[in-house]
Amino acid sequence: MSGEPRKILVTSALPYANGPIHLGHLLEYIQTDIWVRFQKLRGNQCTYVCADDAHGTAIMLKAEQMGITPEQLIDQVNADHRRDFAEFLIEFDNYYSTHSEENRELSSYIYKACLDAGKIATRTITQAYDPEKNLFLADRFIKGTCPKCKAEDQYGDNCEVCSSTYTPAELINPRSAISGATPIEKESTHFFFKLPDFQEFLQKWTRSGTLQPQIANKLAEWLDAGLQEWDISRDAPYFGFEIPDQPGKFFYVWLDAPIGYMASFKNLCARRADLDFDEYWKKDSTAELYHFIGKDIINFHALFWPSMLSCADFRTPSAVYAHGFVTVDGAKMSKSRGTFIMARTYLEHLNPEYLRYYFAAKLTSNVDDLDLNLQDFTLKVNADLVGKLVNIASRCAKFITKAGGKLSSQISEPELVEQFLSKSDFIAQAYEDREFGKAVREIMALADLANKYIDEKAPWKLAKEEGKEQEVLDVCSVGVNLFRILITYLAPVLPGVAAASAEFLNAPIVWNKPLQPLTDHAVNEFKAMISRVDPKAVDAMVEASKDNMAQAPKDNGKAKKDKKEAKSEEEIAPTIKFDDFAKIDLRIAKIVSAEHVEGADKLLRLQLDIGSEQRQVFAGIKSAYAPEDLVGRLTVMVANLEPRKMKFGMSEGMVLAAGPGGKDIWLLQPDSGAQPGMQVK
Ligand code: MSP
Ligand code: ZN
Repeated sequence: MSGEPRKILVTSALPYANGPIHLGHLLEYIQTDIWVRFQKLRGNQCTYVCADDAHGTAIMLKAEQMGITPEQLIDQVNADHRRDFAEFLIEFDNYYSTHSEENRELSSYIYKACLDAGKIATRTITQAYDPEKNLFLADRFIKGTCPKCKAEDQYGDNCEVCSSTYTPAELINPRSAISGATPIEKESTHFFFKLPDFQEFLQKWTRSGTLQPQIANKLAEWLDAGLQEWDISRDAPYFGFEIPDQPGKFFYVWLDAPIGYMASFKNLCARRADLDFDEYWKKDSTAELYHFIGKDIINFHALFWPSMLSCADFRTPSAVYAHGFVTVDGAKMSKSRGTFIMARTYLEHLNPEYLRYYFAAKLTSNVDDLDLNLQDFTLKVNADLVGKLVNIASRCAKFITKAGGKLSSQISEPELVEQFLSKSDFIAQAYEDREFGKAVREIMALADLANKYIDEKAPWKLAKEEGKEQEVLDVCSVGVNLFRILITYLAPVLPGVAAASAEFLNAPIVWNKPLQPLTDHAVNEFKAMISRVDPKAVDAMVEASKDNMAQAPKDNGKAKKDKKEAKSEEEIAPTIKFDDFAKIDLRIAKIVSAEHVEGADKLLRLQLDIGSEQRQVFAGIKSAYAPEDLVGRLTVMVANLEPRKMKFGMSEGMVLAAGPGGKDIWLLQPDSGAQPGMQVK
């Protein structure tokens, strides 16, 4: 709290612009947001920027599949991401996109600087090519029979059945996962960043306190093993930036992604007079720069990124902070168990501050995975936030209101208040060190003390005694002051509760100067700031996540080098055999009735006539249709889908519709001449 305010630039990894935010992502954005809010509260000039990672083959193919342009796709996803983050109270100073002019310019600039420095090599490589789609195929877009165990339908680089790894050339009967065509070999010129030239630089940089010890050790292993040149180019068609003077060649998404941090900041600088791009990015900058990331993308941030920056004569990060992965109930998040929970689904059922608190309580500065145990979540949030924290204020407030709404003019228990105030530095240091769990434990230990004090004094008893009015007010005034100190310490974690508390306390929450207790001060009426977690709402969220047809990646992130784009591969429908197709019984169905489903945001309950019988189906088309508009219309349904028990009842089939979702979901044209029950071929 002494000296000049620090100038700090903070980033979180840029989420891919092809799918929704889920609870795994949120660990990172919540962790970063708490740290940033802490810095701001302490009076530092801290700036938090992020963006969508908008480039790459996966996004291009997904847009194509949805029948929209990549630009349309990334705009839609950007709006969704912003909304999810805002509702989780994650407050960016700028949330941008890597598909921006600033990023194009900076990427070209850095590339050219590397080129001029002789750090870009050009080589011809042979790669698998889809002759139907006219597309080079990355390993994950090739499927075939495993050469070892002969399991069918395995990806180009590893077998999910026997776990062996191989090259796509070794696959038996290889084919393109996109078109089904047999890949051919084709030559192409690629550009490589000469990472091995940075061996010495990296050896120093990775050991200069920039990395957590576990990470530094991992990198030392990689460095000892020797570094490889890094392929930074991709052939058209590709959604990204064309490489200057190299028509038909594009920057690989991971080249321009981290430069997106700079671009987002540059975009912000244009509208913020107090921020100067060069001051933060020039070589000898004294500003601090921190990247918060997941442990799966360390190589990009601790090898390629600092090397590129130094080559282009920019500053390098002050530190890279990696966190572990979120598991739910002790296992990897899973769609079938309903634990692959989207941010949106969570928000439909639970208060975001519960999750902020739970993550904070379990976060440390290391890279261990973090388990969201749903039962523990309910118990802990209820015990700590409702049972301990808010309880302090709610028990005291009513007596203060009764006494006229003004706190005592003196603190009757100065030592207790002093004890709370004296923890300020310890708690602040824990936040600074990203030891949020440690901070929360200390704060909750103080909350226990506050409750003990109130229990012992029992103002509700005193209030019944003659002539004890002043004592009741004194006790409750101490209680309210203790509450104020606690909520100040917790403000980075619980910004919503802190704002509601400021309203009640009639005083702003500040932590950049020594706290003075409130005396002779009018407070406002107390309103409940946070309610209990309803275990039923948690169950409903899990249930809804099972129903969720959203595009959750199969793999929520194995720590594999350079496999990042692969996370979205599941969204590209694999080819199926004709026999499989023939099993699907598609029928024309007439919508007999349609109605809203209580407690479901997206679903409508449809009664469908397929000639021979009627079926009840729940369809996620509420965003596009009012029930009354649907009655009498025809649609195509999968008539032989196994019935599924949903929260709201049985769903006996599935309705087919086209379009990207939201308002754009298209059913058959009315009056198409089709009759209920007709087979669709
Ligand atoms: N687009 C890249 C990052 C580019 S940064 C220049 C990317 N995107 S991502 O959407 O896959 O992941 C974004 C961040 O969320 C990453 O830091 C990743 O580690 C983190 N997480 C994604 N799933 C996660 C969990 N299940 N648990 C914790 N963090 C997770 O990677
Ligand atoms: Zn195998």
